[in-house]
Amino acid sequence: MVTGTDAVILVGGLGTRLRPLTLSAPKPMLPTAGVPFLTHVISRLRAAGITHIVLGTSFQAEVFEEHFGDGSELGVELEYVVETEPLGTGGGIRNVADALRGDTVLVFNGDNLVGVDLVELVAEHKRRNADVTLCLTRVDDPRAFGCVPTDDEGRVTAFLEKDPNPVTDQINAGLYVFRREIIDTIPTGRPVSVERETFPDVLASGAYVYGHVREGYWRDFGTPADFVAGSADLVRGIAPSPAVAAPGESLVLDGAEVDPSARLSGGTTIGRGAIVGADAVVDGSVVFDGARIAAGAVVRRSIVGAGASIGEGTVVEDSVIGDRADLGARLELRSGARVWPDVTLADGAIRFSSDL
Ligand code: GTP
Repeated sequence: MVTGTDAVILVGGLGTRLRPLTLSAPKPMLPTAGVPFLTHVISRLRAAGITHIVLGTSFQAEVFEEHFGDGSELGVELEYVVETEPLGTGGGIRNVADALRGDTVLVFNGDNLVGVDLVELVAEHKRRNADVTLCLTRVDDPRAFGCVPTDDEGRVTAFLEKDPNPVTDQINAGLYVFRREIIDTIPTGRPVSVERETFPDVLASGAYVYGHVREGYWRDFGTPADFVAGSADLVRGIAPSPAVAAPGESLVLDGAEVDPSARLSGGTTIGRGAIVGADAVVDGSVVFDGARIAAGAVVRRSIVGAGASIGEGTVVEDSVIGDRADLGARLELRSGARVWPDVTLADGAIRFSSDL
């Protein structure tokens, strides 16, 4: 168990990469394995004994409190601190300072799932007497990320922007431990990026910035491809979450109707009240509440928004279908197609991919 530690979860971003789904709900509230993504993060904190949690909100701030209330249903005490103008990741951390109680602060990006032992992470931060600890993860291709090299003792030596020839495969996993006083040094009243401004500043000041490199599960749920893959990992129990009671090959939520001849696979979730017709195939996808997949349709690695309809024999691959969109029969949408909410597509009309 962890004592004297607050948790801050940053949930104020616009989530532009997941549009159009994030037009109607903030990214951390999108359903994954039957609950808002944020529920998985909060449940992991609860399991580690960290029960005072502050949400740094901005975009659609009210939605969080409407759903989670005071947090008691999840066994935690939730506080909300709203930014009227988005302050960025560093500004968001600084903005919640008055709500903090302890001397140690765990900070999470509200769209990352990190399979680290939180009790051990905080213990290591304290053992080392570090000022800031960053959880680092190794990736096969670090060129798309900022890299964080460390020395033999685990001290961070630099924060490097995206580089075609990276010197390390270690990247920031979006989970930090701060000594409380460091948070008070972040400037107020303007947007600040924790990655690009705060961390380099803290390092330049001579503070002890420790990089906790770990091998376990890590995923950023910020793009459609990562969102469907991460949701599938949760359904199958590959991603760690106490909020997933019974992992399996697929998850069919209350009130959904799935024809016995339909095939669900790859960690697919079928939302509440959704309908899947005869011989339909739904693989590695997230079907939101009330959506309808007609007979013979094929949906792979895609997100189908709430109340959307997919017509008979239509193929949807690697695509995002907005809420209430109505796709006719025998269409093909592939490779990053995005259909905006409430759009209607006539039968057989589309055989390509783009924003619709
Ligand atoms: P994109 O627009 O798709 O990049 O998504 P995003 O807006 O969520 O940005 P990003 O993925 O870089 O944000 C990482 C985490 O920080 C997410 O959990 C965001 O909700 C959160 N975040 C980003 N900007 C802000 C902000 O200005 N204030 C607060 N409180 N949180 C933020």
